[in-house]
Amino acid sequence: MKAGNATLSSYGTTIFEAMSQLAREHAAVNLGQGFPDDKGPLEVRKAAAEFAVDGHNQYPPMMGMPGLRQAVAAHNRRFYGLEVDWQTEVLITSGATEALLDGYMGLLDAGDEVVLLEPAYDTYAPVIRRLGAVPRSVRLVPPSWSLPHDELEAAFTPRTKLLVLNSPMNPAGKVFARDELAFIASLLEKHDAFAMCDEVYEHLVFGDARHVPLMTLPGMRQRVVRIGSAGKTFSLTGWKVGYITGPAAMLRPITKAHQFVTFTTPPNLQHAVALGLGFDDAYFHGLGAAMARSRDRLAAGLAALDVPLLACDGTYFLVLDVSRWLRPDEDDVAFCRRLVVDAGLVLIPMSAFYETAPPRHLVRACFCKEDATIDGALQRLQSWAAKQR
Ligand SMILES: Cc1ncc(COP(=O)(O)O)c(C=O)c1O
Repeated sequence: MKAGNATLSSYGTTIFEAMSQLAREHAAVNLGQGFPDDKGPLEVRKAAAEFAVDGHNQYPPMMGMPGLRQAVAAHNRRFYGLEVDWQTEVLITSGATEALLDGYMGLLDAGDEVVLLEPAYDTYAPVIRRLGAVPRSVRLVPPSWSLPHDELEAAFTPRTKLLVLNSPMNPAGKVFARDELAFIASLLEKHDAFAMCDEVYEHLVFGDARHVPLMTLPGMRQRVVRIGSAGKTFSLTGWKVGYITGPAAMLRPITKAHQFVTFTTPPNLQHAVALGLGFDDAYFHGLGAAMARSRDRLAAGLAALDVPLLACDGTYFLVLDVSRWLRPDEDDVAFCRRLVVDAGLVLIPMSAFYETAPPRHLVRACFCKEDATIDGALQRLQSWAAKQR
């Protein structure tokens, strides 16, 4: 039999699936995959159910239902002061995942280069490679995840078409600061490149950190598309409703990709998300505040175990330095597997977010969980750690 596609065949099953499977086998507490325990707003869930029962179940318009596109435009104006034409500058997709694929398909040709910042969400590079484009990764430097300006500048070449920016950043928990964004913007202008901004965690920022969309910086409105996800904003990750905002000239080819990939997204979910985007400011600010409490609960428990933690200003994730628990020659993947079996706890090895030569001493813990889940995870880690001394 002939083989499947060579590029995709070279990647294994994602670590998230593998670890969740292991979690089930060992009845482990799962702080691996990033899905919240919270059920999401009842009003939104009811709206989806009722809309489907009322019979709205046929293909909606290709670019998305007008009500949701208007709600996305209004959300851009309310939170970021962006004036957006809902008819030509908003596209609804089946999750941010589809939005990213549409973006790559719509903007890239084979041979184009794409600048990525590592640690990078694990779907970026495989899809870019599959399309014949070339990822060029620049590493943020732990423990502060600082942006190495010289290396970023050096990654741009005459073939650079696109930069992918994920802020707030999974898995690093970094929220890019305005001066970093300004530097990125200067490179995009200098090299006449686009940016695709994965901003699915836009409302999950903590403390004094503020999420600034790159699109709001001078000169960026015509070069940038930004992507949001109802999955993250309404704690409904299974719904897969995403939205892209961008200038019409960029959105046109991206929409061509969308029409051939999924064409549309379930109407009842679009209807319900439009309702949710209309919630008052308190809902959106409350999301970050609630998540910050969970981060603090997990961080306090880990600090009591003397586990060094990296800064986390946003997202669902905290990064731990597990150096002192690594056996000689053990890497983060082997460590995480051992932890599931011996401690009954799932964490994600950070090497999953690097293409080559990853750091081997960092793991990611997800804290968008109920207090009892976080406490259970900490108890398991504590009992296990006591036996390591
Ligand atoms: C950085 C990032 N981008 C995109 C996604 C996918 O979002 P969606 O579920 O809306 O496809 C995720 C989900 O974990 C994510 O962490």
